[in-house]
Amino acid sequence: MTDTAFPTEPAVVLDVVDLAVAFGGVRAVDGLTFSVKPREIVSVIGPNGAGKTSAFNCITGFYKPNRGKVVFQNEDVTGLRPSRIARKGMARTFQNLRLFHDMSILDNVRTGLHARLQENFIDTALHTPRYRRAERGSVDAARGWLDFVGYSSSEEAFVSELPYGEQRRVEIARALAADPTLLLLDEPGAGLNRGEKQTLAQLIRSIQNLGIAIVLIEHDMGLVMDISERVVVMNYGKEIADGTPAQVKADPAVIEAYLGAEES
Ligand SMILES: Nc1ncnc2c1ncn2[C@@H]1O[C@H](COP(=O)(O)OP(=O)(O)OP(=O)(O)O)[C@@H](O)[C@H]1O
Ligand SMILES: [Mg+2]
Repeated sequence: MTDTAFPTEPAVVLDVVDLAVAFGGVRAVDGLTFSVKPREIVSVIGPNGAGKTSAFNCITGFYKPNRGKVVFQNEDVTGLRPSRIARKGMARTFQNLRLFHDMSILDNVRTGLHARLQENFIDTALHTPRYRRAERGSVDAARGWLDFVGYSSSEEAFVSELPYGEQRRVEIARALAADPTLLLLDEPGAGLNRGEKQTLAQLIRSIQNLGIAIVLIEHDMGLVMDISERVVVMNYGKEIADGTPAQVKADPAVIEAYLGAEES
């Protein structure tokens, strides 16, 4: 027995241990191990088909891993449903955006708030004063998040009317509305121009400043090396490196598998 007090914050937010998932003969993820500390920005890179999105899907509950463990804030969440993992404080965005096309932008962001809230059926069905207060509060909160991500189009707009960069911002706002401790971003820079990418880098830093840890999948090496504290490199489902940007850049296996291929 020791009288050491529990730390108020876990030393790691996310611990991924020997994670694996296969589809038929394809080992999409095959032994991925990495961890994320509070407020850390960790990037996951690798060529197309390396298994990055599959890893995110295992971590967030969209795929059931065949092997390995996902520990989130000291709790084993391996194989839990996505909604349960989200309620614990893990939010994500999708490589192929998954916004609701028949809802306004404001309502899209409000669905993020509801992902974390436990709604009371009676309040909702009877539109009690408590329900109406909560509704007003959620509109204000959603507006706050749209503002935070730099969204500048109409909040009443529909998804299909928006430029791609704005749609990406709305997805990030919706994820943030769920009040996460950890945010997983799957290629938030895809389809953005140079200026928009710089704004994205600033946004990711300001999310970090809120105390949120970030795992980022991104192909733009400039952006990755600029903002990451650590970089995990995947190739054919395997993890081939895990280190600081400088260590990873100098790693011969990485140069061969990835950076070299891109530069040639
Ligand atoms: N649901 C699925 N069913 C069958 N195969 C899948 C499924 N999801 C992923 N895969 C396969 O797993 C491998 C890894 O795919 P994944 O999408 O995870 O790669 P990625 O690193 O995210 O690639 P990209 O950079 O192109 O997004 C690929 O061979 C892919 O075809
Ligand atoms: Mg992917």
